[in-house]
Amino acid sequence: MINIDLNGKCAIVTGASQGIGLGCAQWLSRAGASVLLTARNEENLRNNVTEINKNGGKSIAVPIDLTESNACEIVVNKCIEEFGGIDFLVNVAGVSRRTDPLDTTDEEIDIAFDLKLRSAIRLARLVVPSMKQRGGGSIIFTSGLSQLHSASLQGSGCIPNAGIAAYKHLLAKRLAPDNIRVNLINPGSTKTPRMDMQNKRISDYTGKSVEEVESERLSRIPIGRFITPDDCAKTVLFLCSDLSSCITGESIIIDGGGCSATRY
Ligand SMILES: NC(=O)c1ccc[n+]([C@@H]2O[C@H](COP(=O)([O-])OP(=O)(O)OC[C@H]3O[C@@H](n4cnc5c(N)ncnc54)[C@H](OP(=O)(O)O)[C@@H]3O)[C@@H](O)[C@H]2O)c1
Repeated sequence: MINIDLNGKCAIVTGASQGIGLGCAQWLSRAGASVLLTARNEENLRNNVTEINKNGGKSIAVPIDLTESNACEIVVNKCIEEFGGIDFLVNVAGVSRRTDPLDTTDEEIDIAFDLKLRSAIRLARLVVPSMKQRGGGSIIFTSGLSQLHSASLQGSGCIPNAGIAAYKHLLAKRLAPDNIRVNLINPGSTKTPRMDMQNKRISDYTGKSVEEVESERLSRIPIGRFITPDDCAKTVLFLCSDLSSCITGESIIIDGGGCSATRY
């Protein structure tokens, strides 16, 4: 019987107040890992931690804006202080700013860069000493399909998505000798609060109803349903576990077949 056992392992999950990040925290916890959940929304984080711990997990909340100076240091230090080290870093935090490429503002680019690139890279740098001490680890970044094909309203999102995908390759090579693996997940249309917000924005922009926008999205997913946070979390669990022990520097698309149809 194969069993993913992460008992004794410790994880940081960013963007864990809702959506994909919350799913990752729940699944890592179900496999036995101690999990630090971080995001800005304190109430959501506390509720998530209460729920996880009620189900036998061990988790803590660190409410913080990751773009603030020293925020990443605070998160990493807290994880080491509470759990004794870090084995997994799951970078999920991101912002939803669907913008026309011609309307993308400097402010939108700054926000996207600060969170998805700068803070994720800073966290990755900071967890390495602890992972080395523990004999290895797994770092996971989250990108988006806008780095692979032209999603027409992803003006500010596509740039950090492409940047983090490129950085992941370099970091994977650099850390492979230390048994630290670095991979990236590429979710397709995933049913989270962010997607609902995006549908509303697209509806405002195009004049189509929200229902129309949603059903057009759905029609582009061959598997016939939206991706769920659980779908993404299960891939993250695989990437944290020994089942993926020789996989590093990879991007895994989780989109129900939509994008893979156009790749070779
Ligand atoms: N859903 C999709 O269809 C989809 C598709 C492709 C890629 N993705 C990527 O997957 C990731 C998660 O997406 P999601 O759909 O789960 O999004 P979501 O529901 O909007 O969640 C985003 C998370 O990021 C956190 N966050 C935002 N700004 C932050 C900040 N300044 N500091 C700390 N945390 C911050 C949010 O928490 P607070 O607001 O509490 O801070 C929230 O927990 C994102 O990186 C997104 O680009 C999603």
